[in-house]
Formats: sequence, structure tokens, C-alpha cells
Amino acid sequence: MNELPWYHKTTIYQVYPRSFYDGNADGIGDLPGLIQKLDYLRDLGVETIWCSPFFASPQQDFGYDISDYTAIAPEYGSLQDALQLIQEVHRRQMKIIFDMVMNHTSAEHPWFKESRSSRRNSKSDWYLWRDRPNNWQSITGGSGWHFAPERRQYYWATFLPFQPDLNYRNPAVKQAMLDSVKFWLERGVDGFRLDVFCALYKDAEFRNNPFSLKLIPDADEFHGFFQKDLYIMNQPEDFQFARELRQVCDAFGEKLLLGEVSGPRSVIRRFLGEEKNDGLGLVFDFEMLQFRFTAEYFSRLIRNLEQDFPEPFMPAYVFSNHDKHRSLTRLGGNVQKARLLHLLQLTVRGVPCLYNGEEIGMSDLRLPAAQALDPLGRKFRFVPRFVVDLLLHEVTNRDEVRTPMQWDDTHNSGFSSHDRTWLPVNPNFHRVNVEQARGEPASLLNTIRELLRIRKEQPALHSGSLELLEGLPAGVLGYYRKFGEDRIVVLLNFTKGDVAARLGAGEWELLFQLSERDTLQSNAARLAGYSGIMAKAR
Ligand code: NOJ
Ligand code: CA
Repeated sequence: MNELPWYHKTTIYQVYPRSFYDGNADGIGDLPGLIQKLDYLRDLGVETIWCSPFFASPQQDFGYDISDYTAIAPEYGSLQDALQLIQEVHRRQMKIIFDMVMNHTSAEHPWFKESRSSRRNSKSDWYLWRDRPNNWQSITGGSGWHFAPERRQYYWATFLPFQPDLNYRNPAVKQAMLDSVKFWLERGVDGFRLDVFCALYKDAEFRNNPFSLKLIPDADEFHGFFQKDLYIMNQPEDFQFARELRQVCDAFGEKLLLGEVSGPRSVIRRFLGEEKNDGLGLVFDFEMLQFRFTAEYFSRLIRNLEQDFPEPFMPAYVFSNHDKHRSLTRLGGNVQKARLLHLLQLTVRGVPCLYNGEEIGMSDLRLPAAQALDPLGRKFRFVPRFVVDLLLHEVTNRDEVRTPMQWDDTHNSGFSSHDRTWLPVNPNFHRVNVEQARGEPASLLNTIRELLRIRKEQPALHSGSLELLEGLPAGVLGYYRKFGEDRIVVLLNFTKGDVAARLGAGEWELLFQLSERDTLQSNAARLAGYSGIMAKAR
């Protein structure tokens, strides 16, 4: 058995720094604030932190629009703070990855300012310029081509108009971006989460995209608006670039490259490599951010991921992030279901990724669309709420999932001592907060902490193989995890009522149970509604 790279057995926690902890009382979370909360994350037991962008930026998309890749936005702190962050994380035996937005810069980036200033300048072909737009749609809807009067030409933006796409067919661009990556690797970062990594290359001939019947982009694929994304996503050069980037990182040791990519699993798998895992280390799978809470759904999900991400590859399991509904909101606020969801997430074969606040059961906060700060929310503020809820199954105003972390039940939930916070605090903070959750033995927080502890202790969980159990009662999902002689079984009851199920022959010792009513006698298990257990073969 080969030892897995650290990033295939780790656990990830996403920090959205603007909303995590405000260290200097201006209402905005920052790097010194995050440093102050590192002990919380260590005690929770997560091993790797992914921090959303804090680089210099006009903050039109709250950091996903970078104007200098090696400087820190003053509201988040200084370069010194970023270096201290890396150090403090490492001092706690944890890892940290930064968020690299390689596809586009801010329109305020000096490169773009120069590029747009005339048709002849040293950066004139650093972005994608055309005399006439073709039919390509941006992934947020509408043409992604935008007119720049200075050049009397159009530039391409995959996301929003103030996020112009870089031209990776220009070697100087590629070099400049790899230099930014190296800048942080030299300073000890453990890797990167890679924003829309599937869109870096566009068709060299700018061929029109084919028609599609799909209006609404879904979690599986970005494409929608009656168009396939054939020539703007998942180009052969994208897979090739993943390998190049990997080589750059390899020179600095074992680094995690975590791709935000979209498309059918068989396609996004290719970012990891063809036979060897010589590309990215992990990719996110968007489909599961729209999970359905049934045994059938998860059994299909696991089956598919096992098929598409066999060794030496590893899937990632993610149910919330800063762009999508919070998992508890998808679960209708049912904390018991959330505990079951995380029992699954922390025991399957795959790297789990939690989003800040998910561990205490934070939920979406409904906010008036007219006041959206999120540029996507502003773009869609005219779409009536019921249409958003009914048709999209998506958040259009992402402010709703980015509200400040709820630490305790004091002023601003302990997030900031300023009068006002950049986004309102969810008023449920009196009930839902870290302090409160700590004191309840069966809280979601304590459940997750305990599961993270067991996962770290048991090689079968972080490094073992997975085999689904057959012949379980309807609504019950189960799997074995195996590593060497070790054998662990997990049983999950997705139904409301009690169920009985039988494990394979042998003597099993209970490692974990969600409900006190769950029982296991030799190999006969009884599970309470929405409950689950984990047991180890003696
Ligand atoms: C994906 C990021 O997660 C999202 O927050 C951002 O707005 C877009 N990429 C554009 O960078
Ligand atoms: Ca601050």
C-alpha cells in the first residue's frame, strides 16, 4: 500500500475572510482576525484551510477580481499578516491554501488598463480582444463580449464585465501568472484553490458555440442561456496546463491544487491526469452542492465518484460554499439531517470540505435583492424571488450565504465590535453560535469535531478503500472502509423512522453513533430516524 499524498487524506475548511473574524473593529473580517481564530480551527480538527481571496482588489466581486496578485488588500491586512498567517497555521501542524484567480483579473489591474488603452502597447494581447463579438455567452448570462471605446474592440469576460479574461495563448501571460504562483510557494503556502480553472483557454479560432435547449445553468455544468460551452470550457489546453502548473508546484514539495471546474465528471476528471495523478490534486464537483437528502441520491453519488475517481485519484465531498445555498438551508433547517450528512461526508472515501459556519449549522439569511452587495445579486435583482426559489434552486444574491460567522451571542455575534458589519449578522445568532454549540454534547459542532478526530485516528477512513453495502432496507445507505486488516462500516438511515439492518458476519465494535437510541448487537443494528453509526471489525 502506497502512502497517499497529504492532500488526499486531509480535511478542508473554507474561510471566507471577510466574514470570519474582524480583528480591527471596522466591520470587515481580516487576516489578523483569522489568525486569532486559528486555535478554534485546530481544536475543531480540520487540517487544511482554504482562504478565499484577500489580494489587492477593488472588491467589486469581493476579491475574485484581483488587481495585484502579490499584494494584500489593505482592509484584510498586510503582506506581513499573510506571511504570519502561513507561519501560524504551520505552527499548529495545519496547512493553508490560497485562492488563485488565474482566469481573469480585475479590470483595474494595471495589465488590463494598459491593454485596453490602445491597440498597440506592451500588454495589447494579454487579454482576448476581437473586432466583433461571436455568439459566446458569459456564464452569468448575456454576451461576454464588452466594448472598449479606447481600442474600438471587444474584450472577453467569462464571468462579469469587470473581470476580463487573460489570454493564456500568450506565453508572457502564462509566465506572469506562474510567477505569481511561485511568489506564494516561495513564501510557504501549501497550495491553491483554483477559481474557474476550466475556463482558462478559449478556442483559438473563436468558433461559435452550438445551440442548446438549456436556459438555466445547473450545478453540473455552467452552460445555459440556450448555448453549449463547447469552445469556452474544458479545452484540451486546460488539461495540459493543469500538468504544467503541477510541475511548477512539484518543485516546492507536495502542494495541493484544488480545481474549481465544471462539466460532466468524466471530463473534469481529466484535470487530475489521464492515468497518473500528474495534474491537479483534487477537483470540486458542483453537482453535489445541489444534493438531495435520500439514500438513493448518495448511493448513486458515491458509486459514480468511485467509478470516475478510482485510485490514484481522490474525490472531494463539498455541500456548501460562498456561492451556493448553505447545506442546512437545503435540509430545511433540520439539524439532525445535517449531522447525518456530515457523518457521511467525513467517512466516505474523499476529501471533505466544510464552509465556515457550516459546522455550527448557520443557514442562509434572506436579504432584500435591492440592497445586494454581491454583483451577481445586483445583476439578477429584477428576477422575482419566487422565480429564483422555484426555478433556479440557486442563490442569486450570494450575500445571503456570506453573512458573518456567529461566534457567540454578544454584539454582532462576536464577529466585530464595530457598530455595523459589512453584511448583516443573521438574527438567529442568539441561538446558533459557536459558544452555544460547544456546550451541547450532541450539537452539530461537537458531532463534526468528534468525527474529525476519529477520521484522523483511523487509516481506513482517511486512506482506505470503499465498498458499498448491498441489500440494505430502503432508505438506508452503508459502506465498508478498508485499509490493511482494518475494516470499518458506516450505516446511515435517511428515513424518519427507526430501521433494522444487518452487517456482514463478524464481531463489530461501535466507534460512533449519532443517536443514543442506536444499537448494535454482534452484527444486528437498529438505527433511529435520520441516525447513523460507525463500527469497526474486532
Ligand atoms: C467562482 C467563485 O467561487 C465566485 O465567488 C466568483 O464570483 C467567480 N468564480 C468569479 O471569479
Ligand atoms: Ca477588519
